Amino acid sequence: MTTRTSLQSRLGIGLTLGVTLLWLLGVTASGLVAQHEMNEVFDSALEETAQRILPLAVTDILNRENGTGNQTTPAMKDHDEYLTYLVRDQQGNLLLQSHDADPRVFGTLPKEGFLTTSTHRIYGASAVSDTLYIEVAEPLAHRREAALEAGLALLMPLIFLIPISLLGVWWIVRFSLRTVVEFQQSIESRGAGDLSPVVGDRLPKEFEPVSVAVNRLLERLHRALDTERSFTANSAHELRTPLATALAKVQRLKTQVQSNQLKTNVAEIEEALRSLSILSGKLLELAKAEGGGAISQNQHNLVPILAMIIADFEGQVPERIILTLPEREVNSFLDPDAFAILARNLIENAVKHGSQNQPVEVNLSANGTLRVCNGGKVVPADQLALLRNRFARSKTDANGSGLGLAIAEAIATGANIRLHLLSPATGRQDGFEAVLNLVDAR
Ligand SMILES: Nc1ncnc2c1ncn2[C@@H]1O[C@H](COP(=O)(O)OP(=O)(O)OP(=O)(O)O)[C@@H](O)[C@H]1O
Ligand SMILES: [Mg+2]
Repeated sequence: MTTRTSLQSRLGIGLTLGVTLLWLLGVTASGLVAQHEMNEVFDSALEETAQRILPLAVTDILNRENGTGNQTTPAMKDHDEYLTYLVRDQQGNLLLQSHDADPRVFGTLPKEGFLTTSTHRIYGASAVSDTLYIEVAEPLAHRREAALEAGLALLMPLIFLIPISLLGVWWIVRFSLRTVVEFQQSIESRGAGDLSPVVGDRLPKEFEPVSVAVNRLLERLHRALDTERSFTANSAHELRTPLATALAKVQRLKTQVQSNQLKTNVAEIEEALRSLSILSGKLLELAKAEGGGAISQNQHNLVPILAMIIADFEGQVPERIILTLPEREVNSFLDPDAFAILARNLIENAVKHGSQNQPVEVNLSANGTLRVCNGGKVVPADQLALLRNRFARSKTDANGSGLGLAIAEAIATGANIRLHLLSPATGRQDGFEAVLNLVDAR
């Protein structure tokens, strides 16, 4: 699993959590303020009620015929009381109570002012020279219920705020990053051989340096590859010409000398010059293959190129190569020149190192798999693993410098193709097989 997360989800979750947290802090602060204010209002109502009822209660008690004893004020209509009250004398004797009042809620002796018990908020006031006391009680549960309702009302918007914030942030980030995504897709979709500058003029300002750096890098790469190509091409020319001239001169010399001893010596020089010429050609092919350029900007059909290469070999080894080509085109990003060098090296090996009395099979399938297969002794696995290295050769009677497979491997690697070497060949007890898929090139 990747540890990388998307900017969109990170910002969405982070900002939503932040907004929710801030909202909760705001709700707590305003809840506390609201509770404080509500308590003040409730207290003032409690006080006001006591002050209002007290004169009525005093008149009622003083007008009684027997003067003392508890009376319960009758309820006008059946109802629940939020506020209950008691009127008592200084010794705590009950004189009057509201119909729902529970005397256990109040203290044994009446007191003036505010008092909070575990269940009630009580306010006491006195009249007639502190001989009569009224106490009004309000259940704390009532206040708590009011505070809870206010808190819930403040929390309610969170239900909408969380999804709206998530959606809003997701959309804004997506909208802001769409040009970055387009930029990323344009880089991703281009072939490895496409070194033209990337278009980044619609990118947000923060990403501009990225496109500038990418383009600078592409330009440097382009220049380096061009220099490399022209250097190898020039070197090839510079080396080939003097070698060809020397070879021609030696050949002419061979016809002019009379002595057999001298003739043998000149023939040896001719042979050395010839293998030097082949070696220089292979070294230049290797330099070219390792310098990149195995990928081209466009796809090419490689079938006619392979047919042409086989036609060349037909001149050297008539009817030894059995070629199978697909009916339809095999298009690949593999550079046609690089493909020709790769195929030529593999086929040359099969012709050169394979058993001379067995055919060489070259097979290109419609899905792009190229197989070059020949008979001959099995190459031991430990040697087979080393053959791609430069100058590595296994036991063979044929001449060579040990560079052919290194060249083929460099081209395949440059085009992201895997070159498989098998010995014995597939479905046989002996022989050698090289397999690669040309359409993998990218
Ligand atoms: N088709 C093949 N059949 C059998 N052996 C092979 C085959 N191809 C390569 N080899 C073995 O792998 C070795 C390395 O091959 P490579 O093409 O790198 O060098 P080379 O053919 O000897 O020389 P060069 O290609 O530089 O002229 C060869 O010497 C040979 O022993
Ligand atoms: Mg070779």
